[in-house]
Amino acid sequence: MMSAVSKIVFLISMLVIILVALQFGKTNSYLPTVYEHIINNMSSTVLGVHCKDKHHDAGFRRINFQEIYTFNLRPHPIVSVTLWFCRFEWNNDFQHFDIYVQKRDAKICEKECTWFINSSGPCRIRGTSLDCLPWNPKVAIVYEHRQLGPENNTLTM
Ligand SMILES: *[C@@H]1O[C@H](CO)[C@@H](O)[C@H](O)[C@H]1NC(C)=O
Ligand SMILES: *[C@@H]1O[C@H](CO)[C@@H](O)[C@H](O)[C@H]1NC(C)=O
Ligand SMILES: *[C@@H]1O[C@H](CO)[C@@H](O)[C@H](O)[C@H]1NC(C)=O
Repeated sequence: MMSAVSKIVFLISMLVIILVALQFGKTNSYLPTVYEHIINNMSSTVLGVHCKDKHHDAGFRRINFQEIYTFNLRPHPIVSVTLWFCRFEWNNDFQHFDIYVQKRDAKICEKECTWFINSSGPCRIRGTSLDCLPWNPKVAIVYEHRQLGPENNTLTM
């Protein structure tokens, strides 16, 4: 026979398991696939775009002025750790940008986000206004944990 104490411990453990399961299901359903649209806003310029996260690669594409590069991602259901970043290259320049930072974007880009790429940086449409953010700093060390070449900032595939 179980003692009263172990019965209580058992019941509490079951309750915790049920709550965790419910919480998981709930947060999961809050976070559908997010579509990221990236539009080249530099006239007469071909823009190379390559987006990835630690484990996924959305591929490299060249887009002309006003063309769209779209990929989708799944935010982490429990902790806000999802991070997608892109490398942009045009003419003789290149920049990197964190296109989806779950902490920053979860609420703003619940289902999709549209970014216009200018040479000065990316701008996102937010309601009727523009959200213009700076490029990532061009510091090699920043990219190390993202599997980007530390020497020359190129993506190591
Ligand atoms: C796109 O480029 C045009 C021309 O430079 C600029 O006026 C406009 O603000 C840009 N749009 C966005 C969303 O950045
Ligand atoms: C890009 O974004 C800036 C805001 O940072 C905006 O003022 C500008 O019109 C846009 N276009 C270009 C070509 O920079
Ligand atoms: C730049 O990075 C690429 C990919 O890692 C590598 O193949 C290439 O040798 C590097 N170039 C220089 C100059 O370091």
